Amino acid sequence: WTQETLSVVVVGASGDLARKKIYPALFALYVEDMLPENFSVYGYARSKMSDEEFRDYIGGSLTCRVTDEDSCGDKYDTFLERCYYQPGQYSDESDFKALSERMTGTEKDRKKANRIFYLSIPPSIFTAVAGCASKAASSPSGWTRVIVEKPFGKDSESFAQLERELSNFLTEDQMYRIDHYLGKELIENLTVLRFANLVFEPLWSRNYIRNVQVIFSEDFGTEGRGGYFDQYGIIRDVIQNHLLQIVSLFAMEAPVSLDAEHIRNEKVKVLHCMKQLTLDDVVVGQYRGRQGKGHSYPGYLDDDTVPPGSLCPTFAAVALFINNARWDGVPFLLKAGKALANRRTEIRVQFRNVPGNLFSDRLSLNGMDLDRSTNELVMRIQPNEAIYLKINNKIPGLGMKLDTTKLDLTYKQRYNVHLPDAYERLILDVVNGDKRLFIRNDELDAAWALFTPILKEIESKKVQPELYPYGSRGPVGSHYLASKYGVRWGDILSADE
Ligand code: BG6
Repeated sequence: WTQETLSVVVVGASGDLARKKIYPALFALYVEDMLPENFSVYGYARSKMSDEEFRDYIGGSLTCRVTDEDSCGDKYDTFLERCYYQPGQYSDESDFKALSERMTGTEKDRKKANRIFYLSIPPSIFTAVAGCASKAASSPSGWTRVIVEKPFGKDSESFAQLERELSNFLTEDQMYRIDHYLGKELIENLTVLRFANLVFEPLWSRNYIRNVQVIFSEDFGTEGRGGYFDQYGIIRDVIQNHLLQIVSLFAMEAPVSLDAEHIRNEKVKVLHCMKQLTLDDVVVGQYRGRQGKGHSYPGYLDDDTVPPGSLCPTFAAVALFINNARWDGVPFLLKAGKALANRRTEIRVQFRNVPGNLFSDRLSLNGMDLDRSTNELVMRIQPNEAIYLKINNKIPGLGMKLDTTKLDLTYKQRYNVHLPDAYERLILDVVNGDKRLFIRNDELDAAWALFTPILKEIESKKVQPELYPYGSRGPVGSHYLASKYGVRWGDILSADE
């Protein structure tokens, strides 16, 4: 690495994602000495700003999760010294040429100058920027990689068009499509849990698993993002990408190796096996305002940036089925919603009941119906990361009383570390050229093929979302959907966990 330099260009330097996620992630990697010694950050955007102003701008958002305040303090200044700002238009090659010339200044005397362009910009200008960057600012001596983040189109057609346009300038090899959920600690652990333990994989099929639930809930609305959100809705915003990625990792067959292509080959097969979705298997909702104690919570339509009367779903529940030998008939229930009672993302695996259970009388004596006493494996992705397995257990003492309890791996009790943010892991992978956690174009193709028809049907039939109060548990319809498949949502059953 001493003969190499790395320049990270954040295109859309003054955006929210850049300030909240990208600069703090780069800073954490720098503090942990994970970046090459000769490393610089270039902010690129239309507004005029000096290097100093740029440093002030990002300085305020750099948090120091990795080390004590003192050693972080030194690095804070040396990190900012490596940050530069270059103003320019997004579709002007000569502006990108000027950027490239500036980068050459910090790259001099090194054999290999590698460049990363992080496109933290609206998708409408992805192609223009990719074109200018590739023609006028590609590295002359090292690799050039480009990070893009959703939305990758709005449906199959717009995704295909975006890909066609980008492929005029970038090879698949150069493109790193982020789904930041893949960078989360618990999601990284999913494959370890399955494939590095003997006890789970044999149970990982329709023979023992009754249903799988992937639940995403946020306790805040779209405040401030309504204009963006309204064009997409919760299915495109969260389900078609984050939750579907979790399902494909969860359900895939064992890959040939941990190589990125091998893993992605297996994930895409799962997507290809999914039964086409129908409207009966989808519930949509939208939050309405609510008057709380001394505080009023605005409804989705109260946001000025949302068009009046919008039918955009802020909640959706979906039942998916994977038509293959492993998962035939097992419902995968996904739900995602904004402005709900709590903030939580989790995977819940409900196992089948014990056949001829010798203790079923005892269980019901103790007020535990079969749903409550079923074994359940929960992976809580956030907050308070944890994996726990619910088991039935004898309460110690005379007599035979049973209880459902947890074998509990709560991360903060077991490990004394600050978990890295997803963006840290993902940016580091781009630097190292590891594509395991990035999405291949055929995966996106398959994900859009699954959701495009249903999204079009919802839109063309103007399906009315079921209204739910801000801060509630979401539309009642999601319970009917679950009960159609004999399922009860685990987060509601175990609301106290
Ligand atoms: C984003 C969505 O992809 O993920 C947001 O666009 C959502 O609507 C966010 O809030 C959730 O991410 P996290 O990491 O905070 O769970």
